[in-house]
Amino acid sequence: MKQILEAAFDPEAFRYLGHRVVDLLTDHLLSAGAREGNVVRAAEPEQEFQYWTAKMQEDPGTPFEFLSEFLKRAISLHHPRYLGHQVCPPVPVAALAGLVSELLNNGMAVYEMGPSATALERWIIDRTATLLGMPKGGGFLTSGGTLGMTTALLAARASQIRNAAESGTEPKWAIMASSEAHYCSARAAHVMGWGKEGFVTVPVDERFKMRVDLLDEIFERTVATGRTPIVVVGSACTTSTGSYDDLNGIADFCARRGLWFHVDGAHGAAVAFCPELRSLLAGIERADSVVLDFHKLLLTPALATAVIFKNASCSSIAFEQQAQSLWDASRQGEWYNVGRRSFECTKLSMSLKIAAIWRAHGEEVFAENLRCVHSNASRFAEILEESGQCEIAVRPESNIVCFRLKTPGMGIEEANALHRRIRAAIVCQGDFYIVQTILLGQVWLRSALMNPFTDEGDLRALLNRVTAWNSLV
Ligand SMILES: Cc1ncc(COP(=O)(O)O)c(C=O)c1O
Repeated sequence: MKQILEAAFDPEAFRYLGHRVVDLLTDHLLSAGAREGNVVRAAEPEQEFQYWTAKMQEDPGTPFEFLSEFLKRAISLHHPRYLGHQVCPPVPVAALAGLVSELLNNGMAVYEMGPSATALERWIIDRTATLLGMPKGGGFLTSGGTLGMTTALLAARASQIRNAAESGTEPKWAIMASSEAHYCSARAAHVMGWGKEGFVTVPVDERFKMRVDLLDEIFERTVATGRTPIVVVGSACTTSTGSYDDLNGIADFCARRGLWFHVDGAHGAAVAFCPELRSLLAGIERADSVVLDFHKLLLTPALATAVIFKNASCSSIAFEQQAQSLWDASRQGEWYNVGRRSFECTKLSMSLKIAAIWRAHGEEVFAENLRCVHSNASRFAEILEESGQCEIAVRPESNIVCFRLKTPGMGIEEANALHRRIRAAIVCQGDFYIVQTILLGQVWLRSALMNPFTDEGDLRALLNRVTAWNSLV
């Protein structure tokens, strides 16, 4: 009757497979660290789909081969030539902690289902809030910066009218953010039903930072159209160029106008962990809410996002639904039933992964990582400029460098097409992974220096690859 299930749950089979998988991953770490093999394996979506469709039709029972095959076809973030999207190479101990939490599967949105995970989550939030300069703040962990943004903005809205979450009726409101803000703030405006007009962009200056001097004028223009901005989102930092907005300037404006100040620190609020870089966040301590991803610059496997409020009870107002089987709605101030304050009901024990890094390596590991990736970005910018063949979009404040070839005499469209082809050719070759972005109508190659073991040799090799574009495209 239960033969298949018994085999599936066999502890000794798990032990055997587990040891082999850890060996496999250790070999992967060794070869990635030694710069062996590809960073990325370009594959057409249809081709990939056909491959896995065929695999899934094979007889079951070869989990090791299956996992090895997945690994072979994956992007290698532990390879020092990974300079792609903003996801970190996780510290291995965090992956092991992930294994523990996945096997236990303590869905911890209610305290009873994860007492330890809940307590660790509070410790992580309290410590992070203190580093951000919000020692009285509170919050929780959630699944990603995008969900974190929506959560924070729902709380902002709910704080404007206490009953908005229940009645769904509200005046016409809007969010203000810079034209370089991550799309998740525009998405949050859509989710809240405010449409396109509910998302008001503020232009950026030549360093891609919000023009704080325009806030009053844009606010008044928006009000004149019948919409009232209630939130201003500051980017710390922006996704494309890694530029930090003037958070004190935005905080002053919000204080004057009585608006909610949200900081999207999904990528860059991590510098709170590094004393030398902390000044980039000046003013963040005045925010009503902050989002910070541990899976970007803090060495943690995705997803692991902190949402922190100046007033910890704010998000409860947005999520006041009854859940008879989970908690007693008449009891107030239950910090430990996180489901009462966040989107998620069954919630991963994300805190274990983060806490395991802290316990194994100490808080200083985060600072060391930030120092490495930031100084790599500065060095890369210097190398590009010294080459005389490339220009950078802006001197990096973060670990992100946007660059392009100098193409005198070439029209914008032609130069854009060339850079698209260069980036596609690099990814196709597979030994570097970079991405691209568009700034002021121009295509730029974009590198996020996510791996602390990337060195100058890697950066010079990438420069050579780009400048030898004739042989690439
Ligand atoms: C500034 C910023 N905000 C939000 C996000 C979205 O975060 P997530 O990918 O965790 O949803 C990103 C992702 O790159 C980002 O750079």
